[in-house]
Amino acid sequence: MNKEQIAQIYARSESYIIPQDVQSRITGSTLDLRALKFLGALIEAIGPVTWMEFGSGLSTFFTARLLGADSNAHIYSVDHSDYYMAQTQNACREHKNITFFYAPISPYRHKLKSFLTYKSDYAVKIPDGVKFDVVLIDGPLGFRYGREAPLYQIASHLKPETIIVLDDAGREPEQRAIANWRRVWRDKVSVEFFPGHKGLAVIQIHEPAIAQSFPFHGSEIWKSWYGVQERLEAEGGKIALLYSFIFFFRSTLERVRGIFPTLFKKIKKYIRLK
Ligand SMILES: C[S@@+](CC[C@H](N)C(=O)[O-])C[C@H]1O[C@@H](n2cnc3c(N)ncnc32)[C@H](O)[C@@H]1O
Repeated sequence: MNKEQIAQIYARSESYIIPQDVQSRITGSTLDLRALKFLGALIEAIGPVTWMEFGSGLSTFFTARLLGADSNAHIYSVDHSDYYMAQTQNACREHKNITFFYAPISPYRHKLKSFLTYKSDYAVKIPDGVKFDVVLIDGPLGFRYGREAPLYQIASHLKPETIIVLDDAGREPEQRAIANWRRVWRDKVSVEFFPGHKGLAVIQIHEPAIAQSFPFHGSEIWKSWYGVQERLEAEGGKIALLYSFIFFFRSTLERVRGIFPTLFKKIKKYIRLK
């Protein structure tokens, strides 16, 4: 979809009618009316879709109404809170084509940079051939965890046409996420920004499989690792700190093994011989 088509859908969505029972569920923690209108008009324009969303809630309830009865559509919904996810599952219980993933906030590493984001186990449960038509990023909590990392976790399920909708895109953490995606995928990232309440961005990555190997600077990597540790300490105390050390050690080892496979095999053989 090109720039003009996205802008047309956004303009048209102004007059999209959101059902009253969906409107009555809008709160400060859900998508706002303008964002829901855009999603409604987007589905109207592109038809049954494979939908991925980060942050379940009203968006799930709304898209399930539009897509839930269509056997050609499927919704994947990820949430860090089992409490809120259970509420959403209950509200959507009559729809069969939704897969919910409970993914508590955990350390995650991408290209050496550390994040606190959704536990990435869910991503391996998505069948290999699945490519998303739409990805809605409305979680995790932007100011606390940022919204950059989820896109890395599902990068193998993106296609050049995937429409990525980032809610609250006018805020600083979301702006930073966009800037970093641009460093990872360079000029293959196109962004349409619609200022509204907290802003909405529509992003496409034209060659999602081609990413920079080392997009982040050393100091930034170190800062991210330190930041994750600090937050883990604040949220979980010493056990979390220990966990983060184990995580760091394991993922560094895996990285080294990836870069120097032969050297690693030789060391292993040498240790076995001794
Ligand atoms: C920005 S909200 C958005 C969730 C969803 N996309 C929506 O439109 O409602 C992010 C998080 O709030 C939590 N949440 C869901 N429903 C909630 C509610 N009724 N009150 C407070 N938080 C809620 C969920 O854990 C969710 O991941």
